[in-house]
Amino acid sequence: MDSLSPDALPIEKMKSYDLPAIASLHAVCFEDSWHTELLGRILSAPGTFGLFSRPRGKVVGFVLCRSSGQEGEILSLAVAPGLRRNGLGGALLEAAMAQALKQDIEALFLEVAEDNEAARRLYQKFGFATVGRRPNYYRRRYGPSVDALTLRRTLTSNGSCEN
Ligand SMILES: CC(C)(COP(=O)(O)OP(=O)(O)OC[C@H]1O[C@@H](n2cnc3c(N)ncnc32)[C@H](O)[C@@H]1OP(=O)(O)O)[C@@H](O)C(=O)NCCC(=O)NCCS
Repeated sequence: MDSLSPDALPIEKMKSYDLPAIASLHAVCFEDSWHTELLGRILSAPGTFGLFSRPRGKVVGFVLCRSSGQEGEILSLAVAPGLRRNGLGGALLEAAMAQALKQDIEALFLEVAEDNEAARRLYQKFGFATVGRRPNYYRRRYGPSVDALTLRRTLTSNGSCEN
């Protein structure tokens, strides 16, 4: 499965029974993988939601967010390696922003490794701006630690953005 258009990739709300498949994709996409039980604890917190895409029964992308009052945070976002650069990451991000707005979240934050060029460009394309830095936040198994950048985007119902 390596050439699906994002229009052919329906986005669903994550339920607890979806988590083993989400955990499997998380393990493929991140060095520090989140197991099913941890994902379950995250998803069960009030205000937290997850969205994912599962064409032909296989999970190929997900986003996980939590809110605290009028602020929200993107905790994790990933697309299966074989389907990247097809618009799914952007589609998941847009769906997460729409869901956050429905939950009266006014601004979204997230942390991204400074050397994660693909994710930084994705967030930049969707109007996120850098508002902070955490030195040596990501400890790498191989190689030196990397700073985390904190990004922020204001959410508005008309789709415009202020940072
Ligand atoms: C970051 C990630 C989710 C992007 O998913 P994706 O489906 O490839 O993203 P999209 O196809 O929607 O790309 C949207 C935009 O992001 C940017 N982008 C995505 N991948 C890129 C790359 N490899 N290099 C440069 N820009 C990239 C581009 O601006 C792109 O728009 P364009 O294709 O019109 O140029 C994906 O690379 C991924 O899962 N990475 C591993 C996990 C991860 O790092 N998650 C983020 C943690 S903060």
